[in-house]
Amino acid sequence: MTKDPIGVFISGRGSNLKSIINISKDLNFPGKISVVFSDNPDAKGIELAYENNIDTIILDINNFEDKNDFEEKILISIKPYNLKLICLAGYMKILSKKFIDKFPGKILNIHPSLLPKYKGINTHRRAIENKEAFSGCTVHYVNENIDDGEIILQKKVMIDINDTEHTLANKVLKEEHLIYPEAIKLALKK
Ligand code: GRF
Repeated sequence: MTKDPIGVFISGRGSNLKSIINISKDLNFPGKISVVFSDNPDAKGIELAYENNIDTIILDINNFEDKNDFEEKILISIKPYNLKLICLAGYMKILSKKFIDKFPGKILNIHPSLLPKYKGINTHRRAIENKEAFSGCTVHYVNENIDDGEIILQKKVMIDINDTEHTLANKVLKEEHLIYPEAIKLALKK
């Protein structure tokens, strides 16, 4: 089976990147990560890419005139990979509409809440403060609004009375690692 080229964009730890790397070793998984892009030179996830012989592109926005310049450079750098999908995995920059429009229906994001609830940051803290019974995670297509595009997959987790932001984050993260690869399969089938 020929595997479709995927780019993964990260800014930090890279645990979702790791789950995608692992699943893509499966011969039946339809994608392979051709390139990892990080906007953060210190992102831990870069090491994972090195260890797995995946090409990396690292660009620090501070070295560019403005965001437009930065994104232009990303576009030029990823062009040779002919990416079928771009997976944002803890990527902390907001992509411009101009960038998103270059990849219609091809950019995915994972978010640690049951969207449309709790867009943005501190999702677990807010869910606990609001005494929600459930939280979870969502993989969705990216549009120009933050954490907003069409939902591909979601997974619910129960919030226990003793859960802290930290324990809830861990529970949700485990599910993230399962649904992101599944959502990639679905998106590649489209
Ligand atoms: C995840 O919780 C993801 O949902 C959010 O950022 C975090 C990234 O974690 N968008 P990691 O870098 O994949 O470990």
